[in-house]
Amino acid sequence: MRGKILLPVFAVLNSFVNAQEKYVLTTGPTARSQCAATTAVSPTFSFSTFAYTQSETYRYAISVPSPTSTETFAAPFSALSSLIPFVATTTWGSWDPNATATATDFHDKYGSASWSALWENARPFLNNFTSTGIYSTTVSPTPVPSAELILPPRDYFGPTDCYNFPDGFIYGVAGSAAQIEGATSHEGKAPSAADIIAKDQPSQDYVTDENYYLYKQDIERLAAIGVKYYSFSIPWTRILPFAVPGSPVNQQAIDHYNDLIDFVIAKGMLPVVTLIHFDTPLQFYAANVSSLYDKPSVGYNNGAYQNETFVDAFVHYGKIVMTHFADRVPLWVTFNEAFTYCQNGHAVDSVIKAHAQLYHFYHEQINGTGKVGMKYSNLFGVPLDPLNTSHVEAANDYNNFQVAIFGNPIHLGTDYPAVYKERVPDYVPLTKEDLDYIKGTADFWGTDAYTIAVISPLSASESPCLNTPSNIFYPECVQQSWGGKFGWNVGYASQTYVYITPTYLRHYLSYLWNTYRSPIIVTEFGFPVVNEAALPLAQQLFDSPRSQYYLSFMSEILKSIWEDGVQVLGVIAWSFVDNWEFGDFTPHYGMQTVDRTTQERHYKKSLFDFVDFIQART
Ligand SMILES: *[C@@H]1O[C@H](CO)[C@@H](O)[C@H](O)[C@H]1NC(C)=O
Ligand SMILES: *[C@@H]1O[C@H](CO)[C@@H](O)[C@H](O)[C@H]1NC(C)=O
Ligand SMILES: *[C@@H]1O[C@H](CO)[C@@H](O)[C@H](O)[C@H]1NC(C)=O
Ligand SMILES: *[C@@H]1O[C@H](CO)[C@@H](O)[C@H](O)[C@H]1NC(C)=O
Ligand SMILES: *[C@@H]1O[C@H](CO)[C@@H](O)[C@H](O)[C@H]1NC(C)=O
Ligand SMILES: *[C@@H]1O[C@H](CO)[C@@H](O)[C@H](O)[C@H]1NC(C)=O
Repeated sequence: MRGKILLPVFAVLNSFVNAQEKYVLTTGPTARSQCAATTAVSPTFSFSTFAYTQSETYRYAISVPSPTSTETFAAPFSALSSLIPFVATTTWGSWDPNATATATDFHDKYGSASWSALWENARPFLNNFTSTGIYSTTVSPTPVPSAELILPPRDYFGPTDCYNFPDGFIYGVAGSAAQIEGATSHEGKAPSAADIIAKDQPSQDYVTDENYYLYKQDIERLAAIGVKYYSFSIPWTRILPFAVPGSPVNQQAIDHYNDLIDFVIAKGMLPVVTLIHFDTPLQFYAANVSSLYDKPSVGYNNGAYQNETFVDAFVHYGKIVMTHFADRVPLWVTFNEAFTYCQNGHAVDSVIKAHAQLYHFYHEQINGTGKVGMKYSNLFGVPLDPLNTSHVEAANDYNNFQVAIFGNPIHLGTDYPAVYKERVPDYVPLTKEDLDYIKGTADFWGTDAYTIAVISPLSASESPCLNTPSNIFYPECVQQSWGGKFGWNVGYASQTYVYITPTYLRHYLSYLWNTYRSPIIVTEFGFPVVNEAALPLAQQLFDSPRSQYYLSFMSEILKSIWEDGVQVLGVIAWSFVDNWEFGDFTPHYGMQTVDRTTQERHYKKSLFDFVDFIQART
């Protein structure tokens, strides 16, 4: 159909304030400038003899090669242990609410009885709780049959670029402990905020993907298909069940993650460690974990980071983990999506200061040569009407809230944005000394750049917001949507808030790079195909929308690198497997399926396409 088409054209400009979309009116069908030489000739028709001539070529995935040497990033624990106070190690076993024999060693505040009490007080359920699925010991890995490693047919339309990724480009896949491990009450682990979220969901699932026992098989599968980096989180409540400094370290947890990291490296891959991923130990909520759901004045949940004991305890925990594993881990993330679990201004202060302390510890005491950073959760806010100043201001407010409160002090050494200081009354001012200490404490900008949000001002009926924490729009006080200026959705929709918005990703990377001046790692991106969980397995595996998401996003990343001069160090896809998405298993973010009865995994097409796209360009 002929008609008028309005094309958004993105100007690459130095600062976001100027970086508005420009709309250019054009008419007629899509131009095909590559076809200018083709003159109109009539086709000629003829008969021939039909034969089945189509032949199939097939390829096997290129596995990660076995390592020929092992790179180290710091001295081993034996040489670093003097950097942390002496900590006793012990073990506690697993919690079984049906057990008839109960521990009575209450004289020991860190004994078995006190440890069981952590679970009794958390009360996951009264008596039908279990975090045991099929497995209760580590499963030995078996090689992936070659028949599973044949690449699927290509999608008809695909990338035609000639760009390559720079040397050393990081590419990997991610999961987080609470979402995949299961075994939550096993081998000394204490409850965390994630266990309370699980309890309050209809599925009440504590088994998840049993990755705590299946990690070797999971890693084996990733190495076999050619994934280079494996990103996972370590639960604080496994390492230190009582959370606080002075409490004993769980030897079984140290052994587990040592073994996991060694196995990643033995397979030729490299580990990425996140220290906290929405799994704050319950101790920091005092007796009242329902405050987890209090409406925050800053982010979306109460991660208890504002607790006055949080910073010292987190830094202590972080030092224990770093001294044990820094020799083998090249990439560290302190906080996952910091903004999301910041309850108030004190929580923001805790996150920034705890992060900065660990950064200094890593580079100045451990002398680590790897990278330390944080992951930010911001969806890029783009103005609904880029020609309307009030829309642009609303988008600026939104972006400043979500990332500048961390980006200004950590990446630029400058104060919080004005909009934060104006709206969050309990924000903690940063002194000159604070800023000097915090400035530059990130080796990369980690962005979980799933999609965008379209931002416009609140209408009069939705106000007042600015000084009204009870308003659901507070504190950003803007309207968010995924409908564009001309009525269309901004892209192909997923089951959740994620839309396929690759050209905006390029725009966003330009914004981040030019504003915060740090190399960028896309630390999470992923796409939950609509209703995938309801499809037959064969259809789940042929996940073309997810492939389109990944290949289009990575194509735009290449343009950022080569055309816009943006330093992108790598991409980490979320997630390597369907997992428990803090509610249930139905938004499928995985690049592998999981049979919820047998725990069997299958590769989806998108995982082959993700790896192939990168291998073809390195
Ligand atoms: C405890 O007993 C209940 C009821 O018999 C059972 O459903 C549950 O699986 C048991 N829990 C454990 C951890 O064995
Ligand atoms: C466990 O018990 C709770 C409370 O009685 C119930 O709502 C839930 O459905 C049960 N879960 C399972 C897996 O049986
Ligand atoms: C803060 O955390 C500590 C544990 O370190 C806990 O004892 C205390 O009750 C918490 N305070 C509040 C106000 O929640
Ligand atoms: C626990 O916190 C919730 C949410 O803030 C609150 O409604 C409730 O009154 C608190 N309970 C106690 C015992 O403090
Ligand atoms: C780290 O480097 C500093 C300064 O050179 C040195 O004093 C310290 O001993 C080193 N630490 C380790 C663990 O090697
Ligand atoms: C700009 O946006 C505001 C809020 O949506 C609206 O009230 C105003 O009319 C718009 N101005 C123009 C010039 O379109």
